[in-house]
Amino acid sequence: MPQTVQGVIARSKGAPVELVDVVVPDPGPGEAVVAVEACGVCHTDLHYREGGINDEFPFLLGHEAAGRVEAVGEGVTEVEPGDFVILNWRAVCGECRACRKGKPWYCFATHNATQKMTLTDGTELSPALGIGAFVEKTLVAAGQCTKVDEADPAAVGLLGCGVMAGFGAAVNTGGVGRGDSVAVIGCGGVGNAAIAGAKVAGATTIIAVDVDAKKLEWATGLGATHTVDASAEDPVEAVRALTGGHGADVVVEAVGRPETYEQAFYARDLAGTVVLVGVPTPDKEVTLPMIEIFGRGGALKSSWYGDCLPSRDFPMLVELYRQGRFDLDAFVSEKIGIGDVEAAFEKMHDGAVLRSVVVLDGGTA
Ligand SMILES: NC(=O)c1ccc[n+]([C@@H]2O[C@H](COP(=O)([O-])OP(=O)(O)OC[C@H]3O[C@@H](n4cnc5c(N)ncnc54)[C@H](O)[C@@H]3O)[C@@H](O)[C@H]2O)c1
Ligand SMILES: [Zn+2]
Ligand SMILES: [Zn+2]
Repeated sequence: MPQTVQGVIARSKGAPVELVDVVVPDPGPGEAVVAVEACGVCHTDLHYREGGINDEFPFLLGHEAAGRVEAVGEGVTEVEPGDFVILNWRAVCGECRACRKGKPWYCFATHNATQKMTLTDGTELSPALGIGAFVEKTLVAAGQCTKVDEADPAAVGLLGCGVMAGFGAAVNTGGVGRGDSVAVIGCGGVGNAAIAGAKVAGATTIIAVDVDAKKLEWATGLGATHTVDASAEDPVEAVRALTGGHGADVVVEAVGRPETYEQAFYARDLAGTVVLVGVPTPDKEVTLPMIEIFGRGGALKSSWYGDCLPSRDFPMLVELYRQGRFDLDAFVSEKIGIGDVEAAFEKMHDGAVLRSVVVLDGGTA
């Protein structure tokens, strides 16, 4: 029997989000229904609400979540009811040209549920990043569920998007290693996770750049060795000054704007790597002198979801968290109710939080 539960939708461009009844079908072949225990509020949810991703309203928002598998459909073998899982938005197909080349983190045909969740009048919902998790129960492809050891869902659910994206941008995409210098421009949830990742990977100089003093303070707590207030000084000059005049080996851009991308480009050392993990809106353009692109060598990369492989990376990061080596709790600025998402967007906009996390019944608030 389909279930009717409460969920948070964005009905139209720019309108405040609404808490409504959502109809969740029983899982079909290859699908799972998950009782959501916690879901972080990510900047990408706000992008959806503002129409910055696409126009397929209404959206069922939320996508950084942990919960418990309630039911699985025919043919599902990877998870079973009762499993504690983190949801991922890139369930690899195993068959596309990227998967066949042995690079499944680039999978070009990732899976989502086939059936749609709907409003009670039958209107189909577009789940954010193919998840939709500001809702008591959600329907996903079984491959979007990664089983992990039991841990606080509010903390480990963040691995489902922003924290994994940032950590992986530094470690997987940027290839940060022992002794490297790293600069991270934009220290929200994503950028601060890049800082934490750089620390775990052994970087010795980790420079946090933001325009918000509070973000820089959090960055220091997560492993930044230096901070740069980009509202007060030129971040390119500051990063060079902190790296012997050369620039950083790896610069992670976690804002998604042309000006910060250009700063990242000029703040890296010769043969260094720029990683773009911030998501630009479709209207943004950058202009760079081609001779500089050539002359500086190195690599200009983009990072989808931190080039992660959920089955490899989520259990490993949960273990680092359990061992006290990766402070996921530091990202949870507040735990809120499912009716508080709009207020959380305002706090995000004001820079008051790293992550607000919606905790649902069953989650350990
Ligand atoms: N690539 C991916 O897979 C992926 C996954 C999740 C999120 N993202 C994207 O990453 C970006 C960051 O997400 P978030 O959740 O951390 O957002 P956030 O709003 O919490 O953080 C953005 C940070 O950038 C800072 N900032 C703004 N302008 C700046 C400037 N000119 N110079 C320096 N810092 C500046 C803000 O003060 C803030 O701290 C967003 O674009 C989001 O959509 C990408
Ligand atoms: Zn694939
Ligand atoms: Zn996200």
